[in-house]
Amino acid sequence: MGTSAVDSPNSPRCSRPSSSSPWPENLECYPRSMFQPGLLKDKVIVVTGGGTGLGKAMSKRFGELGARLVITSRHPEHFEATAEEFRKDGIDVLSLACDVRQPESVEQMVAQSVERFSRIDGLVNNAAGNFLCPTESLSYNGFNSVVQIVQYGTFNCTLAVGKQMIKQGTGGTVLSIVTTYAWTGSAYVLPSAMAKAAVLVLTRSLAVEWARHKIRFNAIAPGPFPTEGAWSRLAPPGVGVDAAVKRVPLGRVGNTDELANLASYLMSDGAGYITGDCVTVDGGEWLGGAGEFNEYTRHDQTAVHQMMAALRPKK
Ligand code: COA
Repeated sequence: MGTSAVDSPNSPRCSRPSSSSPWPENLECYPRSMFQPGLLKDKVIVVTGGGTGLGKAMSKRFGELGARLVITSRHPEHFEATAEEFRKDGIDVLSLACDVRQPESVEQMVAQSVERFSRIDGLVNNAAGNFLCPTESLSYNGFNSVVQIVQYGTFNCTLAVGKQMIKQGTGGTVLSIVTTYAWTGSAYVLPSAMAKAAVLVLTRSLAVEWARHKIRFNAIAPGPFPTEGAWSRLAPPGVGVDAAVKRVPLGRVGNTDELANLASYLMSDGAGYITGDCVTVDGGEWLGGAGEFNEYTRHDQTAVHQMMAALRPKK
């Protein structure tokens, strides 16, 4: 693998963040990966948008755990450096330009993957498009551009890879990255919310329909993970990590290792009985915004205790 004792995926991450680090000081020490080496040995996994952000973090962990990778992006500059970095770490990776919106491009990507690795065992539908926009200012083409990437792109990849898995007869795993507003909805990201809800329904539908082919379907709904791609589009200028942290009951943003570990587990045979589910990894963010009385947890707790004591009926 080429990883040293210092940067092995199982080495603990216990150093305090530097002053330029986005991580708050209470980031706890934990092993970067808690899995046995070779957990994903020889599995061939396709990760769309696998060259940057969360896609890169997941791909890297899969590779460290022994998977052979196909990483794709519309733009080669998004995966070239990543593929080079992975190869230096001893990871077997094929990087391919693929526009998930175009069925022909997706089918070509699948054919090239099979030509190189003879089969595909896993797919991570990670490629996405999103931007903040008041719905009344949205053009039809703006709506279409997000839905084409998220909903159609996920369908195109799932269909092409799924047919390959069915042909192989070896089963497989499809993991889709959604979001918690796939079920709550959210203002200002309507195309993304509608498309991610559709991806969740795809996950649950095919978990049943293709169970006969031993293909598992799951989803992950990440909360705030400050990657460059998401943050530059979804955090207005001047609004940084602090604002996101305030919404999260656990009091911090996510670390990409935490997402990569969850994804690795769901892609592994150890999760072989889990299908049709969506796991949220958001530090409690969406529930924190949902409960009627949750707001009190954000107030001074001495005052909250006094207020609640004052409401208590006298004996
Ligand atoms: N607000 C309003 N409309 C926007 C917009 C914004 N911030 N960004 C793009 N659009 C509109 C464009 O105006 C255009 O519509 P029009 O033709 O009616 O003017 C339409 O969306 C397509 O834009 P374009 O830039 O040509 O599309 P693209 O296919 O090159 O890019 C996006 C697709 C817009 C989704 C782009 O954000 C993207 O490539 N995203 C990929 C990465 C990403 O978003 N990751 C998700 C991180 S959470």
